[in-house]
Amino acid sequence: MSEASAGDDFEVYESAPTPLKTKAGLHDPFGWYKKMRSQSSVHYDSQREVYDVFGFQQVKNGLQNDYLARKSLADDSNRTTSFSYIDNAIVWMDGTQHNRSKGEFFKYFRPGEINEFENTIRELTTNQLDQAVANGTDFDFVSEIAEPLPLRVIMRMVGVPDDDLDKVIEWLLTFREVTYSEFSDFDSQQPERLSNVVDYFSDLVDSRRANPQDDLISKLIADEELDDITIGSNAFNFILAGQGTLTSLLANSIYILDKFDYYSGIDQSQVDVVLEEILRYRSPLQARARKTDRQTQIGDMSIPQCETVILWIGSANRDPDVFENPDTFIPERNPDHIAFGSGSHTCIGAPLARLEASIILKTLFDYFEDITVRDSYIPLAKPSDLGFEKLPVKTEPKEP
Ligand code: HEM
Repeated sequence: MSEASAGDDFEVYESAPTPLKTKAGLHDPFGWYKKMRSQSSVHYDSQREVYDVFGFQQVKNGLQNDYLARKSLADDSNRTTSFSYIDNAIVWMDGTQHNRSKGEFFKYFRPGEINEFENTIRELTTNQLDQAVANGTDFDFVSEIAEPLPLRVIMRMVGVPDDDLDKVIEWLLTFREVTYSEFSDFDSQQPERLSNVVDYFSDLVDSRRANPQDDLISKLIADEELDDITIGSNAFNFILAGQGTLTSLLANSIYILDKFDYYSGIDQSQVDVVLEEILRYRSPLQARARKTDRQTQIGDMSIPQCETVILWIGSANRDPDVFENPDTFIPERNPDHIAFGSGSHTCIGAPLARLEASIILKTLFDYFEDITVRDSYIPLAKPSDLGFEKLPVKTEPKEP
């Protein structure tokens, strides 16, 4: 693991840009983006040996550019390991196979399909809130609500039994540890630590094949379009992708609503519009890494083959060429942001994320009169993710 300490037992990534190696920089990277954007929309960092892209149009073009390839997990040294199984998830693939699998999954992520989860989300949220306040009204919003809740929702949807929650949490942590590389290659990690994940998801697909349930895995098996490895590896990836991002969206929402004093006076009919501005203002995924397949032009820069390109979505969403007063939070702005990506890899879970966040926030408004964020919050240590490791809050539950 390549780590550098930022003090206070807070570890940051070696491959992080220097200005994002402090707590303050990780919590608020927008000053650095602004400075970089004002000089040029694309920079080469000789220390990190990567090309950083900051302008909205350039990041959007980069996300859509077929010459900027996904970085798969498996390489020649670890091709027979668990990474090879997990690599079958659409997030690690390009081309025809990606489009074909994504088309099959997409049927089940359309707004019409996921609306059937509304009641499940509401029920899981209320249970989670009851559990959170059981030991007092002051708690860590991340560990009590924002982390477990989206995980419970996506596990239900995919078909992973509720009782396996602790196991899944353990695997997500392990996955993030063994792929702990941020903007560099995944090699020399420890893929064997993920063999339990592979065994579990292979067995789960087998068991649903023998005994179908009302869940995504069973529906995909019944469709007979995708093989079991594609179904199992993507099932794991939906859980992975559907958890951390939504955790950050929820924590960022509470942070912003408190900071700008919108929590108590919010008009619930406007929640969906406010969420779009939260997604722009503090995008949960700030950056995506790609490798150039061939010499590629981005903005004014011609980038050679086999180079790492970091597309800073968080900076693009604050570009003044596209958003007026980009550093001002304007709840009614309803921006056309790229927090869910762009092009063929655009987030398949966006409708689910929007539905979930909307229901969870509305349930919070009905449950708590007010939520105040304590100053002792800790930002996430990864520059590509903007959110909170800990978000201590003081809550005022409404009278029943
Ligand atoms: C606020 C929540 C979310 C945010 C901000 C977000 C953001 C993104 C972004 C930016 C991408 C594009 C990545 C790239 O181009 O490299 C992406 C892809 C993806 N997201 Fe999400 N996501 C969220 C929630 C979810 C949820 C709930 C799921 C559940 C299934 C999900 C599943 C995926 C998958 C499978 C991909 C890969 C799609 C592909 O490669 O074709 N995401 N997401």
